[in-house]
Amino acid sequence: MKIIGTGRSHPSLVVTNEMLSQFLDTNDEWITTRTGIKERRIISSENLVDLAIDAAKKALSDANMDAKDLDYIICANVVNEYITPAMSCLIQGAIGATCPCFDLNGACVGFIYALEIAESFYRSGKYKNILIVCAEEPSRMVDWHDRSCSVLFGDGAAAAVLTEGDNIKATKMSASCNWDRLYQKHELQYSPYNSKPNSNLPLVMHGQDVFMFATRASIRDINSVMKQAGYTSDQVDHFLIHQANIRIINNIKQFVKQPDEKFPLNIQKYGNTSSASVPILLDEVNKEGRLKRGDIIVMSAFGAGFVSGACILEW
Ligand code: COA
Repeated sequence: MKIIGTGRSHPSLVVTNEMLSQFLDTNDEWITTRTGIKERRIISSENLVDLAIDAAKKALSDANMDAKDLDYIICANVVNEYITPAMSCLIQGAIGATCPCFDLNGACVGFIYALEIAESFYRSGKYKNILIVCAEEPSRMVDWHDRSCSVLFGDGAAAAVLTEGDNIKATKMSASCNWDRLYQKHELQYSPYNSKPNSNLPLVMHGQDVFMFATRASIRDINSVMKQAGYTSDQVDHFLIHQANIRIINNIKQFVKQPDEKFPLNIQKYGNTSSASVPILLDEVNKEGRLKRGDIIVMSAFGAGFVSGACILEW
């Protein structure tokens, strides 16, 4: 497949490090040096699904495609207002599409998981035009009294439209179960047959374990897709890395020995927006005119599970 349109949508509220330091024992210097984040967008009056719909419409308009021509919609999302129906159904109705759709929970790797699924759907010969939407609201998952976790995340949505093409050169997905390093349990309804205690606790994260996993997994995955596709890092024009921590990105940069210009960043503005992170970055570089036809792009993301994934594609 190839990507022919991108879009993104952000909440209007900008929350700076200074604003966080008014109710958390933290400061701009700590957050900036340890993470690279200066501010993030947080949902206040908006609804996540409306951001998802907005991003989807922008991507369709960028692709010059009518929603009726879509063959499939995949939405990457961890949590939203509805457990059921899937968010992809709400998006489908709002944009006027008639195709089938489903949600996938690939944590922060959702976009790359969705790309690989879209590619195999296309190869099956059944579907041609696929919309991927990533929409996340981690601000409703974290404990806002936990300074080591709440400062890292931001909300947002992004989308991409794909159609037939030979541009996805290689993908590499992986999962290794370390669920207790980064997780959140949610509250289930009472059942007279089930005496297990309920849980409604915020996101739990063991930051240093996640950091080590993320660095190793991303380096391994990037190496794997470059090797599979027969490219060296010198031949890659852009490395779009999940914007979780500037220090993780710097470690990856050192490994591939490529200059800063090849690593676009927006972590300072948005923090970690989970699966929306890579497609938000993609849309930014696309709209800024930084992508030329034929450019080679590597994307890499990692997250709760642990899961990770990378993809190499030609623009
Ligand atoms: N402001 C000020 N101090 C803070 C703080 C904050 N927001 N958060 C933690 N601290 C303190 C800790 O309490 C600790 O204090 P102590 O030494 O008195 O105990 C100190 O800073 C160092 O904490 P530590 O956890 O060792 O910091 P770190 O260098 O490992 O950075 C993370 C913490 C979370 C930024 C880092 O581990 C990380 O980014 N991990 C990956 C997280 C991630 O990407 N998650 C999502 C993956 S998809």
